[in-house]
Amino acid sequence: MSSNLKITEKRPWLAWFLFSATVVVVFVLGLLASSIVERRTEAAYVNVPKTEISAFEPRNEVWGQNYPREFQSYYGTADTTFRSKYNGNSTIDMLEVDPRLVVLWAGYGFSKDYNQGRGHYYAISDVQNTLRTGAPTSKTDGPMPATCMTCKSPDVPRLMNKIGVAQFYTGKWAGLGAEIVNPIGCADCHDAETMNLTITRPALVEAFERMGKDIKKASHQDMRSLVCAQCHVEYYFDKKVVEGANYLKLPWDNGFSAENMEEYYDNIEFSDWTHSISKAPMLKAQHPGYEIHSTGIHAQRGVSCADCHMPYKSEGGQKFTDHKMQSPLNNIASSCQVCHREEGATLMANVYDRQDKIIENRDKLEEVLVRAHVEAKKAWDLGASEKQMQDILMGIRHAQWRWDYAAASHGGSFHSPIELGRVISTGITIGQETRIQLARLLASLNFNQEIPYPDISTKEKAQEFIGLDMDKLNSDKKEFLKTVLPGWEKEAAEREKTYNVVASGKE
Ligand code: HEC
Ligand code: HEC
Ligand code: HEC
Ligand code: HEC
Repeated sequence: MSSNLKITEKRPWLAWFLFSATVVVVFVLGLLASSIVERRTEAAYVNVPKTEISAFEPRNEVWGQNYPREFQSYYGTADTTFRSKYNGNSTIDMLEVDPRLVVLWAGYGFSKDYNQGRGHYYAISDVQNTLRTGAPTSKTDGPMPATCMTCKSPDVPRLMNKIGVAQFYTGKWAGLGAEIVNPIGCADCHDAETMNLTITRPALVEAFERMGKDIKKASHQDMRSLVCAQCHVEYYFDKKVVEGANYLKLPWDNGFSAENMEEYYDNIEFSDWTHSISKAPMLKAQHPGYEIHSTGIHAQRGVSCADCHMPYKSEGGQKFTDHKMQSPLNNIASSCQVCHREEGATLMANVYDRQDKIIENRDKLEEVLVRAHVEAKKAWDLGASEKQMQDILMGIRHAQWRWDYAAASHGGSFHSPIELGRVISTGITIGQETRIQLARLLASLNFNQEIPYPDISTKEKAQEFIGLDMDKLNSDKKEFLKTVLPGWEKEAAEREKTYNVVASGKE
């Protein structure tokens, strides 16, 4: 101490310096402490449950009372303004963009109406509005089974818990019209008590079981993709599991690739529909997003769906997960630049470049398929036998399956461009080989000319070509929306009034 005094005696400015420095340090520490306390209080405030959320609460607004930030950002999926080169938040009428699809799906619901998906917020209204669900007039009427509701709503786990899984899969889509009313939300991915991520869809759990894996043992990072894999996957309705039920199954027993799933479907002799032009037993790929993503470089480096589609966001000192699941191109700074140092424009160009290249060959494959369908029809018209057509029809099935596997997996061109390029090229090969067989068969039936490519330059022309009565479909739908839907909504509102929402009083 005495030596200190001596030092400052000799240099009095030093004492002043030490004094001021101490004041500054204390001040800064004070600021820091107050900021920490403030943020803690804020965090505590944000996290204090205000309402008791029951185990199967389907209403996102009720969860939103406890988790306002996540809820508000989830609500961002209602925004339809962003458009990227091929995707984005707005509805895109894919049949108008690409009328070949109408012919590829002739005889199947998708030829009536198919839109590029938009935000989760619209899951219910879009399934009610699409022409594919038709215009049911009663609970047992209409073209679609109840199982179609499985990927639309947090009312699904609620109802499955109440009536049982197989019962849920039994009956018509309209039978669940008044039950499945809240769009995709909190209870689809979260356990109400712990808020941990959870798998609520039995099909995914059962597919894991058949592969000898326990999904409960999945890592936290894997769960950040598996919650999406409840819905963004390939699936089919199996009529043999439970009598009378359209049991939802993922065809993963042999693996995830286009070939693995094709083998699975061929072995069980499954087809989604018979093509109305070529009579081929067709497969409709749903949206094998998770499967294809898993073959790409990001998945292989451990990047999850949530890393790009649900990046972290900061607001008022709180870091939380952005629940506006959307095209990451609307948010490159938070979604890509967390890991990549490149400029936003460069990353955007990387994505578009991959999409352009995949789409170039995908379009070629579509043309090959349209030709194969009309050539097969000609062969039938000229009297070809079932036996002569058998291999040809399987060729058409396999080529179109590969096209659909690639086309229906939204985002696949970026998620895994090399795999998609491979699948599409095998599709083109099979399609062209099938057309060679067809040319030979047609020649043996004394027909040796080119069959003209149909005029399908617009959606309307293509729908007329396959014989759809669009006016009737549209007017029936209008009637359904006017007369049947309001009844469902009223019934649902009455039912929800009976749910308890208990304030926990912990505020
Ligand atoms: C319960 C089923 C379900 C779950 C779980 C789910 N989705 Fe979806 N998702 C859908 C459906 C259905 C649509 C189409 C909605 C529409 O168009 O009406 C969709 C649409 C999307 C879109 C397109 C939105 C747009 O703006 O173009 C993205 C992106 C998306 N989902 C990402 C994800 C991610 C990432 C996860 C996991 C964190 C996930 N989804 C979990 C069913 C689900
Ligand atoms: C499609 C699946 C999905 C849906 C639907 C969903 N979440 Fe999440 N949620 C996630 C994921 C993934 C995370 C990140 C979890 C992690 O990494 O631990 C998350 C994290 C959270 C967290 C933890 C804090 C944070 O922000 O990271 C809360 C709270 C939360 N979600 C609330 C909600 C609420 C409220 C809703 C409904 C409005 C909802 N979630 C809907 C997938 C979902
Ligand atoms: C969590 C980290 C992470 C995020 C988020 C992320 N990436 Fe990557 N990205 C990687 C890793 C790791 C690789 C593999 C490269 C390596 O290992 O050197 C990669 C590779 C790539 C490649 C090269 C792939 C190829 O085809 O060979 C491109 C392009 C790319 N990322 C673009 C993007 C874009 C665009 C986004 C946002 C939508 C994004 N990344 C988000 C980590 C990430
Ligand atoms: C490395 C970042 C990254 C990861 C990881 C990732 N995606 Fe994507 N995803 C993208 C990009 C980029 C697009 C293309 C968006 C566009 O074209 O606007 C996309 C597109 C999509 C789309 C279509 C979006 C639209 O606007 O129509 C869906 C759905 C989707 N991804 C789901 C998933 C699912 C499910 C997973 C996990 C299995 C996943 N993504 C993993 C970057 C990623």
